[in-house]
Order: sequence, then structure tokens, then C-alpha cells
Amino acid sequence: MIKPKKWIFNVFVAMLTISIIVGQSQPIRASLIGKDSLTMITSPDYPPYEYYDTAGSGKIIGFDIDIANYIAKELGFQLDVKESDFNGLIPALVTSRADFVMAGMSPTPEREKSVDFSIIYYQALDTIVASKGSNLLKTQDLSGKTVGVQLGSIQEKNLKKIAEKVQNIQLKQLNRVSEAIQELKSKRIDAAIIENTVAQGFAQANPDLEFNVIASEENTGSAIAFANNSPLVAPFNKVLSSMKENGKLKELSAKWFSTNTNTLNSSLSQPQASGLNLDFRRILSDIPFILRGIPLTLLFTVISVFLGLIWGTVLSLLKIAGNTLTKKLADAYTSVFRGTPLLLQLALVYYATPQLTGFNISALQAGVLTFTLNSGAYMSETIRGGIQAVDKGQSEAAISMGVPEWLMMRDVILPQALKNILPALVNETIGLLKDSALVSTIGVVEILRSAQIVGANKYIYFEPLLFAGLIYYILVMGLTRCAFILERRLRRSE
Ligand code: ARG
Repeated sequence: MIKPKKWIFNVFVAMLTISIIVGQSQPIRASLIGKDSLTMITSPDYPPYEYYDTAGSGKIIGFDIDIANYIAKELGFQLDVKESDFNGLIPALVTSRADFVMAGMSPTPEREKSVDFSIIYYQALDTIVASKGSNLLKTQDLSGKTVGVQLGSIQEKNLKKIAEKVQNIQLKQLNRVSEAIQELKSKRIDAAIIENTVAQGFAQANPDLEFNVIASEENTGSAIAFANNSPLVAPFNKVLSSMKENGKLKELSAKWFSTNTNTLNSSLSQPQASGLNLDFRRILSDIPFILRGIPLTLLFTVISVFLGLIWGTVLSLLKIAGNTLTKKLADAYTSVFRGTPLLLQLALVYYATPQLTGFNISALQAGVLTFTLNSGAYMSETIRGGIQAVDKGQSEAAISMGVPEWLMMRDVILPQALKNILPALVNETIGLLKDSALVSTIGVVEILRSAQIVGANKYIYFEPLLFAGLIYYILVMGLTRCAFILERRLRRSE
């Protein structure tokens, strides 16, 4: 019979052997970057390369995503897809927020200074997209026109080169390609320079638009971008080459790029609105996508209020306690955070933190941190006022009874102060809840951002935005009601 100890030892050896074998079957993964999931970042405004499937899974889908999934699987990695505006993609690589970028991105000499590229996996052409019948066929026709391009894209650069030769072109830079389409449809611009495959999808969904291929100034092929000297470049290239050989790449481009395919998101080809009409049925299938933003918004608000309250209390105590240095510091802090725009603070925290500290902060963390720091400043003043409004007799009584000062603060003064300032705290919470929409600017898909994505997919803005407004309103009403009940309870317990 095997002795118990030996039995345990045998199991241990067996497990070790298995883990070594498993480990060896995924040598690439282990030796490459020492983690088992890869983060890809993209700009999901570019159907059919990448866009939100708002009417279906709610996830980012497209040609690039399929390729990325294939490569990740081949190399034994999990894939995590994040998003940002196009001009934030390379910065995300440089600050290690992501391992690679796939966004229909073309290698250019300027980009190659900051990142490394894979081999080209798809070759595209530039086109002029314009209203049907506007007859903008070649670059010369753009003279005297306002032309839209995506900020930071190669099309922006190409248009600038065109403008050196063709007179009087007005350039308009937009953050997302869908915005360019929207501007075109509302006639704020005359044309947009967009890649053929993408233009084709947009023109299919918008029969009032047409596109014409032009000679590109610079190569518009797509490649995968990595941080400089990334160990991922070689294995990715290997898989890409094999995809070219085994027909996988052809298969995927047929799936996403062929003209009369139905794989393009059904939400992209929706019935056209005529004139000024409001029809919520058009966003019916996308409502779950917008609703998915609610938990995030609520979570964000609750955490920020809670942490802000703690931080605000600390600050207010620093202001009240006798020490002039801490008082001065706390006052200075408050004045800085109240004296600068919240949106600016948010951008600073999000973009500067990785650069300054090397610590990679997520968009959500950056949001919570900024809102805590900011609301702490506001709350500290409210709490200070609340504390100072508590009847002096209370502290005098406590002191004469020999209660230590911090206990008196904790058990006598603060609870009364909090009760008095409850309405002000509710106001602050409502403010935070609504201001949470600001985190949409750094790529958190909360309520407002979801509504914007739906709008961009369907070229309708009124309905999704109105619906988002309704959600915020209902949330604020719910909050007000809760606060009312809480206040009544507190008053009764007096
Ligand atoms: N190919 C162009 C470039 O590299 C445009 C890519 C835009 N991609 C996007 N996901 N919006 O500049």
C-alpha cells in the first residue's frame, strides 16, 4: 500500500509533469510577454474593419477583429479589445495601454518613428465621398470645397498634400469617420476622403452618397502596429503570412468586403429618414446596448461619491484643525480643483498618469480618481460649513466631560454635520451622476457614449440622445426620491 505521504508526493509530481507539458505546448505565449492575454486597441468607427454591433452582441466586430482573434488563437493568447479615438491609438501603444493596434492603420514614416508595423495585410484605396450627383471625381474637383477627414489619419495627410496642388481647399478634421458622414449629410462639408472599403459600406447604408476612387498620395495599406521592438512583431508576421498562403485572409476579406454581402451590420443599413421625423422604432434593437451603460454609470457615481465624501471629510478636518500649514495646503488644493475645468483634470489624469508614474491607469480608474479628487474639493467646503454650524455648546459640553477631541468629532459633531448637509450632498451626487457623462471622452462606454455609438452607426442622433437624456432623468429622479426618504428618516430619529 502507498503511504499517505508518498501518495501526496506522487500527485504533486504528476501535476508538475502535466503543467510542464502544458507549458511546453504554449512556448510562444510563455516566452513572449509573460502573460496569457493580449490587449488590442482600435477605433471602432470604421465599418467593416471595426465597429460596434449595436443591434446584436453589443461588441466590437469586423475584419480586423476576426484577424486579431485568429492570430491570438494561433499564438495561444486570449484577446481583449479596447477602444479609443483614432488619434489616441499610437499614444496607447507608447504608454503600454495596449499590446497592438489594428484599425485599418497604414504604416507611414512618421508613425514608424514611434511604433513598429507588421507586414501589410490589406491594400485599400482613397476615395472622395460626396452627395450623389455632386460630380467630385478627381482631386482637382475639390477646389473651393470644404473637405472632411479623420483627425490623425493618413487621409488627413493626403488631403494636405492635395491642398498644396489644388487651390482653395478647406480642411475639416473630425474625430470619427462617422462624424464625417454625418457632416456630409447635413451639408456642413462638401466631401470627405475615406478609404474605398469603408466608403462602400457607408454609401450602401446611405443611398444619397456616392464615392469615387482617387490616386493616393501615400500608401493606404493596413498593417498591425506594435510598441517599438515588441517581441510580438515576428510571430504576428508569421501567422499573417500563413493566413495569406492558406486562404484565410481571402476568406475574411470576402466575408467583410464583398459588395452584396449581408454580413455588414444590419444596423448600418437601416431605412432612411425623410425630412424631420422622430421615430423611436429605429433604435428599438439598439436600446439594450444603451441600457448596458446604466450599471457602469451608477457604479461610477457611487464609488466616486463615497470616496469623495471620505476625502472631503479629511480635507475639511485639515481646514478646521488649528495647524496653519495643513489648512493652507487644503485651501490651496480646493482652490486648484475648483478653479480648473473637470474635463481638463480628467484628461490630465488619464493621459499624464502613465507618462509620469509608469502606472497604467484604465479609463474607468482615471474617471473615479478624478471625480473623487474633484468632488472632495467641493465636499470639503460643504462639510466644513456643516461642522462649523453645529452648536458650540455641544463641543463645550463634550470637552468639559473629558471626551477626547477626535472621539467628540467622530461621535458628536460629524454625525450632526452630515445630517445638516444631506441636501447639499444629494446635490453633489446628482451633479456627479450627470458629469459622469464626461468619461465618455476618454472611451468609457457609459450611457452617453453608447447613445453616440448608436447614433453614429445609424446616422440618427435625435432619438438615441433623447433616450439617453431620459435615462439620466429617471436616474436622477430615483436618487432624489431615495434622498428624500433618507432625510425624513433621519429627521424622525432626532
Ligand atoms: N488607413 C488610414 C490610416 O492609417 C485610416 C484608418 C482609420 N481607421 C479607423 N479605425 N478609423 O490613417
